[in-house]
Amino acid sequence: MQHEAIQEITAAGTLEALQAVKTKYVGKSGLVTRELGALGKLPPEERKARGAEINAVRQAIQAALDEREAVLKREALDAKLAGEAIDVTLPGLPLPAGGLHPINRVYEDLVNIYERLGYTVVEGPEVEDEHHNFEALNVPWYHPARDLQDTFWLEEVPASFNGPLEPGAAPAPSVPRLLRTHTSPMQVRYMVDHEPDLKVVVRGKVYRYEATDATHESMFHQLEGLVVGDGISMADLKGTIAEMARGLYGAGAKVRFQPSYYPFVEPGADFAVYWDNPRGESKWLELGGCGMVHPNVFKAVDDLREAQGKPRVYEGKTGFAFGLGPERIAMLKYKIPDIRYFYANDPRVIGQFRGELG
Ligand code: PHE
Repeated sequence: MQHEAIQEITAAGTLEALQAVKTKYVGKSGLVTRELGALGKLPPEERKARGAEINAVRQAIQAALDEREAVLKREALDAKLAGEAIDVTLPGLPLPAGGLHPINRVYEDLVNIYERLGYTVVEGPEVEDEHHNFEALNVPWYHPARDLQDTFWLEEVPASFNGPLEPGAAPAPSVPRLLRTHTSPMQVRYMVDHEPDLKVVVRGKVYRYEATDATHESMFHQLEGLVVGDGISMADLKGTIAEMARGLYGAGAKVRFQPSYYPFVEPGADFAVYWDNPRGESKWLELGGCGMVHPNVFKAVDDLREAQGKPRVYEGKTGFAFGLGPERIAMLKYKIPDIRYFYANDPRVIGQFRGELG
């Protein structure tokens, strides 16, 4: 019986078949169970030996059953896992590719031009104080840019705005703060931290409290340039702007300067670029303001430096500065008719700049 049982167990190909074998031999009314039950009918002297014999058979069958069950269970599990396996070599779901925002594309173009000319690129804080944004730039108290209508003033800023306070130190006196109305305060910050000669461009957001329309937003971007050294002249400024125009619009680009007023430069000018637009027309494109750094700016920088224990190194230096808006360039380059499209995050607009970076 043991021999047949073990043959049947080995032959059982599924857990169900094995269960049937189990019932047949060691179930409640199985063959082995019945043999055990029949022991009582034997004469007492035979019972013990026969009982031991049947038990040995039962144990052998049970052991074979357990072993086969483990094998079948593992096979079933392997089959299940194989059926559910994920083929990691299959191509994944395509993710939409991002791309540079048109404003950043224009910044890249501009920054590449200035890096080639040896300029350093910096950014600077968007929350400024009145001194850096206006006073140090020779912008008098009566200048209209300071009006509530033109500037986002901040009502309160925490005392820790200037950095962590020393233990026990009195909080810094509160200073009028605002969202910077231009990138020019970085001229001051950069000069306070660095000695001439220097060439730097500042990129970043600026804010003006004004009604929006197709060409005005209350937040926009600027690229500011500053060069300081000895004997820097208006010719250097004109050459630099012309070089930028050629970088943007090709070797034939022409530039035009018209006298203008900015308190932090003297003389001051607005500059425009003559370019062939995609419709084949040639037009003057007003790009920004520029001029020779006003001596009062150098003086304000030296005053700030002196207050920090640094030497006065700017009085008597010469330099030029310029500022322009990448939105202007991007709108014409990419034929975007309304400045508000840049910031609306409408995928129908931004999606056109997906894919190729740069
Ligand atoms: N800061 C000026 C503006 O925002 C632009 C400018 C920069 C003009 C540098 C002259 C020199 O309008």
